[in-house]
Amino acid sequence: MTGAERYGAAGALGTPRLHLRSTDSTNVRARELATSGAPHGTLVTAGEQSAGRGRQGRTWSASPGRALLCSLLLRNPPALLPLIAGVAVAEAATAVARSEEAGFSDAKLKWPNDVLISGRKVAGILVEGRPQESWAVVGIGINVALREQDFPPELRSVAGTLGREPDAIEPTLERLLAALERWLAADWSTVLAEVRSRDALLGQPVRWAQGDGIAAGIDDDGQLLVDTGGRRVALNAGEVHLLARV
Ligand code: BTN
Repeated sequence: MTGAERYGAAGALGTPRLHLRSTDSTNVRARELATSGAPHGTLVTAGEQSAGRGRQGRTWSASPGRALLCSLLLRNPPALLPLIAGVAVAEAATAVARSEEAGFSDAKLKWPNDVLISGRKVAGILVEGRPQESWAVVGIGINVALREQDFPPELRSVAGTLGREPDAIEPTLERLLAALERWLAADWSTVLAEVRSRDALLGQPVRWAQGDGIAAGIDDDGQLLVDTGGRRVALNAGEVHLLARV
């Protein structure tokens, strides 16, 4: 089944939309809507979250009104949705980022889907769902207009921003939805080629609970390949979490 067959006509993502000035987590709101029958493409956005959820049970925080905070409900989601969302967010972030800065580079993906610009994380993605009910919520936070002082001191060396003003948040959402429409309809080999071309980990040391090694690319199933001193292993995004760099 192609993306177009699965989802119907283009333009469906983002409708209906619920915008909340403040909420605990747009992912929580979107999951509630999912279980009460909301249609494919339903979008929840917020100006502020009091309990933003990150991957691996972490929290996600952003200064009010300075980040794009959104959660999109997809019915019959593709298995590799986390990687598809990653390439869409990377594309939108690259287009919106203030690029006149020295050292600016296209957004890269730190497997499975952290989005980095110039080595700093500018966006995070949290996919949650109920496979048995055939739905998933893609939660996306993009640091569109955060300033240096908006990050806690311990994050300043690793967190990044698109360097724009708050009025760029809505145009960023439009770009993101358009990118998601396109990448959801793309064939898997095209998605994989894009993931590989944005691979921030290639050749870098990586570590996870059971081992460490040097990242050696992405295989045809979207798994991270790692060379571990003579043996090549494939890590599955659903099962393995990378730890901080070695
Ligand atoms: C990560 O840990 O990198 C994922 C962060 C995802 C944050 C976004 S912000 C909008 C949506 N609502 C949430 O509670 N989390 C996601």
